[in-house]
Amino acid sequence: MKGVTHLRLDKFIVDAGIASRTEVARAAKNGGVTVNGEVVRRAGSHIDPLIDVIKYCGREVVYREFTYVMLNKPEGYVSSTDDDKSPTVMTLLPDDLQRIGLFPCGRLDKNTLGLMILTNNGPLSHKLLAPKSHVDKKYRFTVKFPISESDKESLESGVDIGGYVTAPCHVEMLDDTNGYITLTEGKYHQIKLMAKAVKNQITYLERVTFGPIELDTSLSRGEWRYLTEGEQTALEERGKRN
Ligand code: URA
Repeated sequence: MKGVTHLRLDKFIVDAGIASRTEVARAAKNGGVTVNGEVVRRAGSHIDPLIDVIKYCGREVVYREFTYVMLNKPEGYVSSTDDDKSPTVMTLLPDDLQRIGLFPCGRLDKNTLGLMILTNNGPLSHKLLAPKSHVDKKYRFTVKFPISESDKESLESGVDIGGYVTAPCHVEMLDDTNGYITLTEGKYHQIKLMAKAVKNQITYLERVTFGPIELDTSLSRGEWRYLTEGEQTALEERGKRN
């Protein structure tokens, strides 16, 4: 917060991760935004985040330097900020959120579904993705052919995916072709290559957790929401561990 002396009211609330700019403008117009107890109807007014007490719909807004978004990624979107050929996950966010420097924290293949976290907190993202952080990522998968007990053991202890032997991981089968796999690393196409290493093929892949964050199953594919304060704190705390 050092150096921030005044800020647009709407930007302050948007950056706190509780509403979009359009929602703030609407709430302000309807008297739902107060600065030091006074109703402020102009969302573009300036405030001092170090001194002023801002309330949005009765709730005090705590300044957050960074924004964190959870997205339920659908098939067909690439997890980068721009791409010449395919739509990116960024296009699933409203314009306001496309302008604050968000980027995906980690990648999912174009046809992989599920949990994506987008943030503009570069240092935290870097820490969470660093190999030495060993952040757990859990995926729901389906394979084409039944997984035998010895395939499961191979996957769990490590398989060669083209010159690299994967780190130990956890596999939990629901039946012989469906299960969960939890990795602590994230090599390119890792799960697909691991399946290939045991002469199998992934036909469905969905990420369900990333570190302490679980996919909110009330989000439909393509829908997003801000991380709650509890989730933001859990993620920031996870970034501090190694
Ligand atoms: N492993 C894969 O093969 N693809 C993903 O998208 C994620 C993990």
